[in-house]
Amino acid sequence: MRAHLITYGCQMNEYDSHLVASELVSLGWELVDSVEEADFVLVNTCAVRGKPVEKVRALLGQLRKEKERRGLLVGMMGCLAQLDEGQQMARKFGVDILLGPGALTSLPEALKKHERFFDLTFRQDLLDYIPPPPKGALSAHVTIIRGCNHHCTYCIVPTTRGPEVSRHPDLILKEIEMLKAAGVVEVTLLGQNVNSYGKDQPGFPSFAELLRMVGQMGIPRVRFLTSHPVNFTDDIIEAIAETPAITRYIHLPVQSGSDRVLRRMAREYRRAQYLERIGRIREILPDAVLSTDIIVGFPGETEEDFQETLSLYDEVGYDQAYMFIYSPRPGTPAYKHFQDLPREVKVERLQRLIEKQKEWSYRRNLEWVGKTVEVLVRGVAKEEGYVQGHDRGNHPVLVPAHQAPTPGLYQVEIKQATPHLLFGEVVGAREPAPIPLPVA
Ligand code: 5AD
Ligand code: SF4
Repeated sequence: MRAHLITYGCQMNEYDSHLVASELVSLGWELVDSVEEADFVLVNTCAVRGKPVEKVRALLGQLRKEKERRGLLVGMMGCLAQLDEGQQMARKFGVDILLGPGALTSLPEALKKHERFFDLTFRQDLLDYIPPPPKGALSAHVTIIRGCNHHCTYCIVPTTRGPEVSRHPDLILKEIEMLKAAGVVEVTLLGQNVNSYGKDQPGFPSFAELLRMVGQMGIPRVRFLTSHPVNFTDDIIEAIAETPAITRYIHLPVQSGSDRVLRRMAREYRRAQYLERIGRIREILPDAVLSTDIIVGFPGETEEDFQETLSLYDEVGYDQAYMFIYSPRPGTPAYKHFQDLPREVKVERLQRLIEKQKEWSYRRNLEWVGKTVEVLVRGVAKEEGYVQGHDRGNHPVLVPAHQAPTPGLYQVEIKQATPHLLFGEVVGAREPAPIPLPVA
């Protein structure tokens, strides 16, 4: 029996897809790369914005046709599956198996049943499940905490993923040991709010303590995603500063630079507090690379509010930003209580913000020219004659293909920068892995 997985959304979903893929393999399924070859197609969905939801709707429509033609098994998992919106879609398109983000370990049972199987529970054994290391990977994710206890008014995640639940540190360390033994050189600790790690379970280490533990395991690079500004405390910044393996790439979503908007978003901090945290990061980690998430066109956002976002961008001078147009999500407080702004206003603000981002990214990227950085080369780049990787600051870096013939860690001197890329020359290698170069 052959299964094909299609994944939308964030790194949490990528991790969950890997987890489900390993469940399938342990049940004797073969994983294939296309719908045509598969007997079972499982779609891992995202509900954070309208666009990914519409993509899933279109895909399920296609899969229904395929199912009518040749009797395909269709599954749906992830955030959309947890919502009424997703379940209605699943019924309409004849989805056979539906698993919410907490129910992934029900898959073996679901596959045994020969009738429609929907599970929306949050299972304890999901937290204990250790997926085997991905084959041949140099970089891997490890979920340390699931769910979110915040209530940002625009966000559907607390509804879909439930409250915060930390995984036992012994399981996390065991999973990372296995990744290390399999040759992984970069581990990303994942959670909706990694810095809340341990708070929900008495006796668990704090996030700062966990960082120190993982940082001492001999993995060359340890990263983490995502942090909430409200509890990005000094002990976390100090743990990063004192642990060489932890990369100095800090993703700290601000969402808006206006206090009025932050309040309506229920973000639990104000501009000054956010900037205070940034100041502390810059003080303790002067070489930190900073990125953020910003939502433009939140309901009620005025031109003055938006100007505050632009001015905050200038004050921080982010290296990178992920920018989103506000998307009203049924089930969120903002959807219920606030009026969406006209699309033209949102699009025009996004364009201005993108211009700001390009200016700053270019400026920041130029600062790396002449410096030597460690690049994890992962595969062939789109640009002919180059391979691509990323440095410890998460910048994409291109090097001539002949200089890095195998994936692995290389010392690279940066020669040139664009707003999006760094170009460099290899000046040294560190244990390149003896496996053929995959396509990035
Ligand atoms: N509309 C637009 N962007 C959103 N995000 C979350 N919910 C929404 C929404 N309704 C963004 C936030 C978050 C990122 C993962 O997605 O910026 O940090
Ligand atoms: Fe959504 Fe806010 Fe939780 Fe992040 S912190 S997942 S934006 S509710």
